Amino acid sequence: MSFFPSPRPSILNISPYVGGDVTPPGFVRRIGLSSNENPFGPSPFVKDIIRAGIDRVHFYPNSNATVLRQGIASFYNIDPSWILCGNGSEDTLHLLARTYATEGDEIIFAESAFGLYQIATLAVGAKPVLVPRENFKLNWKAVFQKVTPQTKIIYLDHPGNPVGNFLNKDDLLKLIQETPSTVLIVLDAAYAEYLEGVEGYTSGIELVSEFSNVVMARTFSKAYALAGLRLGWIYANPKILEPVNRIRPPFNVTSLTQNAGIEALKDQTWVKKAMDHNAIWRPWFEREIEKLGLSFIPCYANFSMVNFGDKATDVYQFLGENGIIVRPMGAYNLPSYLRITIGQAHEMQELVGLLNKFYT
Ligand SMILES: Cc1ncc(COP(=O)(O)O)c(C=O)c1O
Repeated sequence: MSFFPSPRPSILNISPYVGGDVTPPGFVRRIGLSSNENPFGPSPFVKDIIRAGIDRVHFYPNSNATVLRQGIASFYNIDPSWILCGNGSEDTLHLLARTYATEGDEIIFAESAFGLYQIATLAVGAKPVLVPRENFKLNWKAVFQKVTPQTKIIYLDHPGNPVGNFLNKDDLLKLIQETPSTVLIVLDAAYAEYLEGVEGYTSGIELVSEFSNVVMARTFSKAYALAGLRLGWIYANPKILEPVNRIRPPFNVTSLTQNAGIEALKDQTWVKKAMDHNAIWRPWFEREIEKLGLSFIPCYANFSMVNFGDKATDVYQFLGENGIIVRPMGAYNLPSYLRITIGQAHEMQELVGLLNKFYT
C-alpha cells in the first residue's frame, strides 16, 4: 500500500478548470468559438517580431519586463512603476490572491463570474463569497453588502465573462468610496477594448491613481490576439505591487511574449479592425438569434450568451459534430446557455446556417 502526501484541504474543493480548448470525442474543431479569442490573430508586425526573437531564446527574459512596461505606460499615459506583468492576466489575478489573502479571509465575486476567481480564492484557503445578480446584472449595493471585516479582495469581472455586463461609472465609484480601503478592489477589464465608447463604462484606469486599493487587470489575450503567448498586466499603486513582486516568478513573461506585447501596442490599426468587426457581427448574430425565437444575455464584449433552453446540449453536440466548437455553461450554473465567441464573417454565417438547420 502506498501513501501520498496530502494537498492543502482547500485545494481539494477546487474543480479543475475546463477550458474552451476541449474537443469532445466525435467533435471536429474546424471553427473554435469557445474561448473568446480574436479570430484574426495578431498583427503581421507582431508575427515578424516573434519570428525574429527565436534567435535569442537561449537568454533569459528581462525579469522586470522593463521595455514592455514602458511601452504599456506610454500607450496609456501612466507610470511604468505602477505596472506588473504576468503570464496572462490569470497569473496576476492569482498573484494578488496569494499576496493579499490567506486562510479565514473572504474574497467576494459575483455569481457566474469568471471561473478563475473561485480557483484563486480556494487556492489560498480563503472563503469565496458570492454576490447574487438580478436579471444577470450586478448591483453595487449587493456587492457592498457582502463586505465584512474578513474581506480581503473583491474581484469584479468588468465587463463580466460569461455574463457580459458591468457596473456603470457612478455605481463603481460608489462601491469604491463605500468599501474600506483595506479591501483590494480588482477591476478585471479583460475585454475593455471592446467597450471603447460604450456609455457608462470605464476600465477604471483613472480610478487607480485616485484610490490606493483599486487595481486594474488587463490582458493581451483578447483585442491583441495573443492568448497563446500569455500576457497580462495589472496597474496599481507601487505599494500594492511591491509585495506581489516578492512572490512573482521573475521570468513569468517570456522574451518572445515581451517583444510581441511591445509590437502589438504599436499596431492600433490592426486592433481597431477587429473591434470594428465585433461591433458589426455581434449585433448581427444577436439579430439572427432573435429570428430563431431565442434570447440572449445582453453583453458588450466579443461573445454572445444564448439561451437554448433544454436544447443547449443538443445544439452543442450538433455544432460540434459539424465542426464548430462553442462553450457549454453548466460549470457556471447556466446549463441552458451556450457562450459563443464572435468569429470571422464566414464562421458566423456558417454557424447561423447550422442553427437554422437545427431548428427546421
Ligand atoms: C474576465 C476575464 N478575465 C481574465 C481572463 C484571462 O485572460 P488571460 O488570457 O490574460 O489569462 C479572461 C479570459 O477569458 C476573462 O474572460
